[in-house]
Amino acid sequence: MKSSKIIGVGSHVPEKIVTNDDLAKIVDTSDEWIKTRTGIEQRRVTDDQTSTSDLAIKAAQKAIKMSGIDPKDIDVVVVGTCSPDTLFPSVSCIVQNAVGAVNASALDVSAACSGFNYALSVASNFISLGTYKTALVIGADTLTKYLNWQDRNTCVLFGDGAGAVVLKQTEKGSGILANYLYADGTGKEFLVMPGGGSRNIRPKDEEERCISMNGKEVFKFAVKALENSLVNVAKLAGVKLEEISLVIPHQANVRIIDHVVKKLGIPKERFFVNLQKYGNTSSASIPIAIDEAWRGGKIKKGDIIAIIGFGAGLTSGANILKWEV
Ligand code: UT7
Repeated sequence: MKSSKIIGVGSHVPEKIVTNDDLAKIVDTSDEWIKTRTGIEQRRVTDDQTSTSDLAIKAAQKAIKMSGIDPKDIDVVVVGTCSPDTLFPSVSCIVQNAVGAVNASALDVSAACSGFNYALSVASNFISLGTYKTALVIGADTLTKYLNWQDRNTCVLFGDGAGAVVLKQTEKGSGILANYLYADGTGKEFLVMPGGGSRNIRPKDEEERCISMNGKEVFKFAVKALENSLVNVAKLAGVKLEEISLVIPHQANVRIIDHVVKKLGIPKERFFVNLQKYGNTSSASIPIAIDEAWRGGKIKKGDIIAIIGFGAGLTSGANILKWEV
C-alpha cells in the first residue's frame, strides 16, 4: 500500500462581497445577530453568469501551478460539490477539459458540505491502492444560488467559493495518514434542497428550489460529528490529539467550533477559522482554509493537520495528514 501527499493547493472566491449590513436591508436581521450567533461578517457571492465550475477551474489552475506538474499527468479529477452547473455533465468533466487533464478520469462526489473530505478520501484511496498516481481534488459550491433571500434562517449563512489540491503518490507513513467518513440518513430532512431533483423536478413553489434547514438539529449533529470525526481519524492514524498542529474544521458557525474546542480540550489557537470572511462555502470551506493557512505561514513541513467537516445527509468526514511541502 502507498500513501498520497498534497503537493499543490489553490482557492478562488468571487469578487462581490455581501456584508451583514447589506443583508439587514433585505431581511429582518442585524450585523449583531449574525456575528454573535455565527461569527460571520461577510460572504462572497457569484453573479448570474458564474457557475460552480468557473470557481473550481480557477482554484484548480492555482493548485496545479503550485504543484509544478503537467496537467497531462493528472490521472483523476474528483470534485466534491452539491451545486453542480448541471446534473450532467459533472463539474469534474468540465474542469478536466478546462485544465487540460486529458488523461484523467473524472467524477463528482455528493456529500454536501462534507464534500471535500469525501472527495479527498476517494482520491487518496485510488492512490493508496495504486490505481492512480496523481489526482486533482476540488471542493466547490455556489449555494447562494439556492437561497431564499427572504429566509433569515438560511440566507445569512452561506457564501460561494472553491478550493483545490493536487495529490501525488508517496510512501506509506507520510502524506494522508487516515480518512474517516460517516453518514446518518435518519437526519436527511434537517437540511434539504427539495426541488429540482427527480422527486420534484418542476416545483410549483419557487421556494422549493431553495435550501431549507432545521438549524438547531444540524447544530446538534455538527458538534457531535466534528468531535467524533476528529477522535476517530486520529485513532485510525495512530496520532495523539496533542500531536495535531492545526485542526481545519468546516467553516459553518464559530459556536460549533467553540463547542468542539471545549469538548476536546485542544487550544483554540490550534483551530483555523476564516468563516468571518466567507460564511459557509460548503465543500469549498476546508480547501479554501487549507490554502489560506498554508499561504499565511500557519502550516509548516512535517506538521500534522486534521481536516474535519459535516453536512447535509447528514454526513461527516475527516482526513489527517502530515504536511509535506
Ligand atoms: O454546513 C451545514 C450548514 N448548516 C449549519 O451549519 C447550521 C447549524 N446551525 C446553526 O448554525 C444555528 O442553529 C443557526 C445560526 C442557524 C441559528 O442559531 P440558533 O442559535 O440555533 O438560533 P435559533 O434558530 O434558535 O433562533 C433564535 C431566534 C429565533 O427567534 P425567536 O423564535 O427566539 O423569537 C429566530 O427566529 O433568532 C431568530 N433568528 C434570527 N434573528 C435575526 C433566526 N435567524 C435570524 C437572523 N437574524 N438571521
